[in-house]
Amino acid sequence: MKADQTPLPKILVLASGSGTNLQALIDASRERDFPGQIVAVGCNQPGAFALERAAQANVETFVVNHKNFESRDEFDASLMAEILRYNPDVIVLAGFMRILTTDFVRAFRGKMLNIHPSLLPKYTGLNTHRRALEAGDTVHGVSIHFVTEELDGGPVIAQAEVSIASDDTPESLAEKVQAKEHILYPIVVRWFCEGRIQLGSDYVLFDGEPLNAPMRLPDN
Ligand code: GRF
Repeated sequence: MKADQTPLPKILVLASGSGTNLQALIDASRERDFPGQIVAVGCNQPGAFALERAAQANVETFVVNHKNFESRDEFDASLMAEILRYNPDVIVLAGFMRILTTDFVRAFRGKMLNIHPSLLPKYTGLNTHRRALEAGDTVHGVSIHFVTEELDGGPVIAQAEVSIASDDTPESLAEKVQAKEHILYPIVVRWFCEGRIQLGSDYVLFDGEPLNAPMRLPDN
């Protein structure tokens, strides 16, 4: 809670790796006027640096190690039980590298966001930077979308573009895209916490109006 003691929307972040997007969200949530609070960070990888970042920020953590479960259903049931302890208003997937079951996704419909390193609908799945380079694209980027049953297929809320230079490698491109991710995700989470974005049947509502195209962060 912040100064005026009004409870803020509760944000729960799920991550699997280094957690640079988590860090961007932690940093944003420290701003005086940020309209949400990160209540917990969940992780499927016991040693992930994201857990360390959360601990440094005094955010509660939990680990549900997928290797301890025989099936995706059992893993998701356990993950859901952990999440429900925090009763979050929004679940933010920040480099969470597990495919979630349909039941799990449906349970949190309209309350779960994901960040994907491509300009969706291009390049769902993995290795997006390499694929953009191999295709000879001149523009690449990042998308933030509502999570639905279709992998990386939910309605896109916002995108940011980067230009591809002739000497870019998958690594240099990843770096450029990540820099945009760290700007864009806090903006979108802020919008969500302010109640500005909602999931319609298969589209995004922004300030109550259907979005015709994703919001764009200008390229610079
Ligand atoms: C990001 O590039 C994101 O687009 C993808 O996974 C990566 C996570 O990076 N979904 P980090 O753990 O936030 O550093």
